[in-house]
Amino acid sequence: MENQEEAILIQGGKPLNGAVKINGAKNSAVALLAAAALSEGSVLLENLPNISDVDVMLGILKAIGFHVSKEGEGVYRLTAQADPLPRTPDELTRKMRASYYFMGSLLGRLGESSVALPGGCDIGERPIDQHLKGFKALGVKITEEDGGSRYHFLAPKLKGAAVFFDMITVGATINTMLAACRASGTTTLENVAREPEVIEVANFLNAMGAEVRGAGTETIRIRGVKKLGGCSYTCIPDRIEAGTYMIAAAATKGNLLLENVIPEHMEAVSAKLREAGFGVSSGLDWIRVNATGIRPQGIMVQTLPYPGFPTDLQPPMTAMLTCAEGSSRVVETIYERRFGSVDGLITMGATVRVEGQTAWVEGVEQLHGAEVTATDLRAGAALLIAGLFATGETRLLGVHHIDRGYGNMVEQLMSLGVQLKRVTL
Ligand code: EPZ
Repeated sequence: MENQEEAILIQGGKPLNGAVKINGAKNSAVALLAAAALSEGSVLLENLPNISDVDVMLGILKAIGFHVSKEGEGVYRLTAQADPLPRTPDELTRKMRASYYFMGSLLGRLGESSVALPGGCDIGERPIDQHLKGFKALGVKITEEDGGSRYHFLAPKLKGAAVFFDMITVGATINTMLAACRASGTTTLENVAREPEVIEVANFLNAMGAEVRGAGTETIRIRGVKKLGGCSYTCIPDRIEAGTYMIAAAATKGNLLLENVIPEHMEAVSAKLREAGFGVSSGLDWIRVNATGIRPQGIMVQTLPYPGFPTDLQPPMTAMLTCAEGSSRVVETIYERRFGSVDGLITMGATVRVEGQTAWVEGVEQLHGAEVTATDLRAGAALLIAGLFATGETRLLGVHHIDRGYGNMVEQLMSLGVQLKRVTL
C-alpha cells in the first residue's frame, strides 16, 4: 500500500448520516499478534482490522517461523511448527511501534530476543526506558547491537519481580507482562496503564493458560507458568476508530449510529461531545451521535491516560473545534509533537495558535478546502475530518499514514453519504 502514493479527494459540506460498524482495534490487534508468539499451540484470532500495521505484524510472525493462514475476513490462524527465531527482521520491525512487543513475547517464549528499535508515528521522543526497566527487573541482560539500533535481550531464566513504573505507559505495561507470564514466581507491576488494550492482552494471555490478574487496575500480578498453549480469541472494537467517526459525525452536523462498540470505552469522548452541545446516546453495543443542525460550543480538552481523553483522538477533536462557536483550549500531555495537523488546518482557514503543549483555537464560521498533507496517522484523520466539513475540495496527501490504522475508511465514509475518493498520484 505504501509503494504507490495516493491522495484522497474530498468534496466537503455533506453530513455523515447512517450506520457504521466499527472494526477490530488496531492497538489491541497488534499487541495480540505479538503475544501469540508465546503460544506453543495454535492460535485463532478473529476480528482483526484490515490495516497495514496488522499486515506488518503478520509479516514479522512469518519471518520468525510462524505459519499464518487467513481463514476469513479478519480471521487468522497462527501456528509455530518449532521454536520461533529470536530475531525479528529489521526492516519490518522499523515500520511500526508495536513491533517492540516481540521483545517481551520472544523473551518469554525463548529467554532471548533481538529486536530493532521500533518506528511508528513521529509525534515525540517515545523512549523505551520503562520497557528496559521492566525486563531488567526480571533478570534480563540487555545489550545494544548495530551501534545502538537494535537491542539484544537474554535471560536463560526469567525471575518474577516487583516493578514500579515511573509513568503510565501502555507499551511498557504490556511488554513486561508478556515476558513475566513465563518467569518463575510472581511478578507485581505497579503504576500500570489501565487502557482497554492492557486488559485485552491480559485476557488473551489467560486464554492461552497464563495467570495474569488485576489488568484494568493500577496493579497487575502475574504468576509465571511453564507453557502457554493455543486458544481462539476475538479482538475488541476500536475505540479510536469509533471516536474518529463520532467526531466526524459531530463536525459534519450529521446523525450517525455506531455499531459494534463498547460504550464504556467511549465515555471521555461522549462526555466532551455532550459538553460541546451534541446529542450522544448509547445502548449495549451501540452509540448514536446526533449533531443535526448543531454548531459546537468551544470547550477545553486535555489528553490523559485512560480513562481520560485519549491522545489519539486529540487531533480529530482539535479539527472539529476549529469551527466551534467561541474559543477552545486543547492541552496535549502525552506527546511533545502531536499538533502535526495544525499547519494543514490553518491552510484551510482555521485560527489556531500552538504554544508548547497547548493549542488555542478561535472558532471560525467555515473552513475551505485546500491541499494538505497527513504527517502521521491521527493528523491524517484530523485533516480528513476537516475536509469533510470544509467548503469545496480538499486534496489530502500522505494517505499511507491513514492506511496504517483505519480499515476501508474511504469506502465506509462514502456509504455514509459524504463525497470522497482515492486517486493515485
Ligand atoms: C500506545 O503507544 C499506542 N500505540 C498509541 O497510539 C497511543 O497514543 C499510546 O499508547 C497512548 O495511549 C500502540 O498501542 C501501538 P505509551 P505506546 O507507552 O504504548 C512515554 C496511535 O495513533 N514513555 O503509553 O508507545 C512516551 O514517550 C498510536 O494509534 C516513556 O517515556 O505509548 C509517551 O510520552 C500513537 N518511556 C508516554 O510515555 C517508556 O519507556 C505514553 O506512552 C515508554 C513510554
